[in-house]
Amino acid sequence: MSALDGRVALVTGSSRGIGAAIARGLRQAGATVVLNGLDPDRLEAARSALADEFGGGVLAAAFDVTDEESVDRAIAGIEAETGGIDVLVNNAGVQHRVLLVDLALADWDRVVRTDLTSAFLVGRSVARGMIARGSGKIVNICSVQTDLARPTIGAYTAAKGGLRNLTRAMTAEWAASNVQINGVAPGYIHTEMTQALVDDPRFNDWILGRTPTHRWGRVEDIVGPVVFFASPASDFVNGQVLFVDGGMTVVV
Ligand SMILES: NC(=O)c1ccc[n+]([C@@H]2O[C@H](COP(=O)([O-])OP(=O)(O)OC[C@H]3O[C@@H](n4cnc5c(N)ncnc54)[C@H](O)[C@@H]3O)[C@@H](O)[C@H]2O)c1
Repeated sequence: MSALDGRVALVTGSSRGIGAAIARGLRQAGATVVLNGLDPDRLEAARSALADEFGGGVLAAAFDVTDEESVDRAIAGIEAETGGIDVLVNNAGVQHRVLLVDLALADWDRVVRTDLTSAFLVGRSVARGMIARGSGKIVNICSVQTDLARPTIGAYTAAKGGLRNLTRAMTAEWAASNVQINGVAPGYIHTEMTQALVDDPRFNDWILGRTPTHRWGRVEDIVGPVVFFASPASDFVNGQVLFVDGGMTVVV
């Protein structure tokens, strides 16, 4: 038996990057996984590749995690098709790099909506079923910017800091219904979101020097902690954020 046999796991923003690696890890641990993204073609390509690798057990639901109506409709559809979502990973996110004094309100709104409000919208919709069934796991993908700031990413920092307290707020209300909500905070991970930083020699040198392990994180580094928070091994772990950052947040 694998840790997540018989469970159904939805991972938002999972057609690429960290979300795709998390979905693969949850499938490997036995769960039926539901991939999510905005682009139906890209999503279907990711779904069929993962299903081929594991002999099935992979579904896909294309919807915008920032749109209340689409979220509620999609979650109702997934619940009807699968019998209920046991694990939700709120992973979808965007970055926007500009100084605060030059940041347009529309860009602030887009980042906060995608990186914070979406976890409320999808979390609320999924939690209604989890509470009714008396069990569930929610993992919110935070960031080292949950704890630390840096110039040019103010909206992202505010949103990811808010996501930690949303994790606590969900815990305050849903822990008694046997729903565990925790966060995983990745350090700098090499993905499409960070490709421009990897390609910038000065930034790359700064990351390697600033991280005690002297390397970028890999998407696979995030999988084990998420599987732990999705499994019965974490049944008495509530409202925590685990930093998976090569030690970046424990040194200056
Ligand atoms: N890469 C890093 O270094 C790093 C570090 C810390 C935290 N994170 C967080 O990890 C998560 C994944 O990051 P990544 O590097 O894999 O990014 P990525 O850009 O490669 O992937 C993000 C995914 O989210 C999806 N997405 C964006 N907006 C969406 C929406 N409105 N509805 C549905 N899907 C949407 C995108 O289509 C994409 O598939 C994000 O929350 C990010 O903030 C990343």
